[in-house]
Amino acid sequence: MTQDELKQAVARAAFDYVESKLEDNMIIGVGTGSTANFFIEELGKISDRLEGTVASSEETARRLKLHNIPVYDLNSAGRIGIYVDGADESNAHLQLIKGGGAALTREKILAAASKEFVCIADASKMVGVLGEFPLPIEIVPMARSYVGREIVKLGGDPVYREGCVTDNGNQILDIYNLEILDPRKLEQDLNQITGVVTNGIFAVRGADILMLGTARGVEIRRAASFA
Ligand code: A5P
Repeated sequence: MTQDELKQAVARAAFDYVESKLEDNMIIGVGTGSTANFFIEELGKISDRLEGTVASSEETARRLKLHNIPVYDLNSAGRIGIYVDGADESNAHLQLIKGGGAALTREKILAAASKEFVCIADASKMVGVLGEFPLPIEIVPMARSYVGREIVKLGGDPVYREGCVTDNGNQILDIYNLEILDPRKLEQDLNQITGVVTNGIFAVRGADILMLGTARGVEIRRAASFA
């Protein structure tokens, strides 16, 4: 199977899961990236039965609207029932790296505001230790050099993502050469650096369920804290 076929398979599995749990007035959070895009195509099949969605990026909002799916601002939507999104890496504890598509801040807000976070990914995203994928952090533009120097002190090599402006008007640094042995601690430490909006470690609020596309089929893993 190709990587796209694996992504399609997990998108379908997530759609089946969402459809089976759909309740009146339930709002669905929808993530960003190629795997989430396959999920949006599935969601389009039941656009008439959906109360609405909240999008983690302007691009996702645009795609949802193309499928006639209502998109709400999070402030008027309240709590999200289920949030479905991809990831750049996951470890066995369902702690993630996200932000390859620069949507990490809105993604983290949706994860925090959701009852359930379902991560969908092809098997190549599963790692032993997070950090092989360069860790994205969103920064306020004027703080870029300062934040870069602070990250070097933490042992990382920050690289400015040229030409990238986030939906929030900020910039992205990608941090190379980090071996993230304590994801919760590093997530919190990075967020303490003045000028950092957020970072792409999703460990304090990781995924509840991981649907992993493998050649043998879709594997479902649950976080220890999620019954
Ligand atoms: C977007 O900012 C990211 O967090 C994506 O969820 C992540 O990059 C996964 O993207 P793909 O589904 O395209 O691999």
